[in-house]
Amino acid sequence: MYPTLLFLHSIVRWLVLLSLFYSLVRAYKGYTQKKSFSKTDNSVRHWTATIAHVQLMLGIVLYSQSPIIKYLWNNFAEASKDVNTIFFGLIHFVLMLIAIVLITIGSAVSKRKAVDEDKFKTMLIYFSIALLIIFIAIPWPFSPLANRPYFR
Ligand code: HEM
Repeated sequence: MYPTLLFLHSIVRWLVLLSLFYSLVRAYKGYTQKKSFSKTDNSVRHWTATIAHVQLMLGIVLYSQSPIIKYLWNNFAEASKDVNTIFFGLIHFVLMLIAIVLITIGSAVSKRKAVDEDKFKTMLIYFSIALLIIFIAIPWPFSPLANRPYFR
């Protein structure tokens, strides 16, 4: 179960990034070119939030199965000295949670705005902050915090 979860969590990362990026491109064009908020824009908003929620669920289950996390909570004094362990046990989890909360709020607030320009603007603000946080919290092969492959 653990290798499957790790594989899925690694792959879904790309869906999270692509959907957020696509949402932002659409929101930017919509906002700057004063377009009307179409059905497609609404689906993209909705699916971006849904993909982030799927990744959150995978992350939570992975957190309960990961040997790194078990090691951290069973030997906190010793394990917390290791950056890699603290990264997955606290930094990654907290930053990703903040980012997904921002996506959820941004999506919900945008949905409730009456004016199309405000819908695009809300998505732009919340989703871009979320994307920045996610980018920082991913264990890229070039990250100074923890390194994992692009594909598992
Ligand atoms: C947008 C949200 C998230 C993204 C893009 C993301 C991405 C990733 C990536 C790329 C990895 C490395 C996978 C690999 O080793 O190949 C990873 C590992 C991990 N993630 Fe996430 N993650 C997210 C949210 C979360 C959340 C919310 C949690 C916890 C509740 C979580 C828990 C973990 C854990 C525990 C590992 C390490 C597992 C291990 O190596 O044993 N992730 N994540």
